[in-house]
Amino acid sequence: MSIPLYAPIDLERLPKHVAIIMDGNGRWAKQHKLKVAMGHRAGTEALREIIRNSSDIGIQALTLYAFSTENWTRPVTEVEALMQLILDFFQSEIDELDEKNVRITILGDKTGLPEKQCAALMEAEKRTGGNTGLRLNIAINYGSRAELTQAARKLAEKVKSGEINPEDVTEALFEQQLYTAGQPDVDLMIRTSGEMRLSNFLLWQCSYAEFVFPTVLWPDFDLKQYHECIAEFQGRKRRFGKREE
Ligand code: IPE
Ligand code: IPE
Ligand code: MG
Repeated sequence: MSIPLYAPIDLERLPKHVAIIMDGNGRWAKQHKLKVAMGHRAGTEALREIIRNSSDIGIQALTLYAFSTENWTRPVTEVEALMQLILDFFQSEIDELDEKNVRITILGDKTGLPEKQCAALMEAEKRTGGNTGLRLNIAINYGSRAELTQAARKLAEKVKSGEINPEDVTEALFEQQLYTAGQPDVDLMIRTSGEMRLSNFLLWQCSYAEFVFPTVLWPDFDLKQYHECIAEFQGRKRRFGKREE
């Protein structure tokens, strides 16, 4: 089966790990004179397509920013709509994702979510835990500073209990305390809607990521846009601090 490509991309040189800040749902809703919740709903349609295609073309890991630790400060009605969409998404997609051999991991503090959402996310992780296809990370109630802080706390506890010594704290051991433990670093970071900031997302994991900022609003992000981002990534020269010969 040949996979349709919408931009000239080389399937042999794909980014191992793609992360996406799905931004612009609010502006999309405004543009269409709709309530903000409808913007988020339209956003989940885009998300479905991107997940499916990532699995089809053979991306190893895909991380999506769905809800930040700062997003709790939005109006209650919007937060409730987002929580409902998260639940709907997992209930409607889990069968297909499992069938596609996708392994789901939630990045963020699940215990800070309403009970139903927390249970659905834990169930999705458990059910797909043995899958060996696309690693799909969904960041919900996620903040990079919170992630780094809890990693530091876990290491401090290990030192306190005598399990390790301070000098055992290496980059590798630190990495193991993160939600993304064992996964490759982010190669390609995409943020839609033209905003050019990280908003507390994957600070550690993005140390050497290539950034692409398409101006399209998230609900309008389609496979053509996605493949163009990958093509842009493939045209970049990554040096990792080395001197070019
Ligand atoms: C991103 O869209 C989705 C979430 C933050 C959950 P926004 O809702 O931030 O969209 P804009 O930035 O207001 O357009
Ligand atoms: C980042 O977008 C969070 C998600 C996409 C889930 P925001 O829209 O919340 O970020 P800021 O407020 O513009 O930095
Ligand atoms: Mg936004």
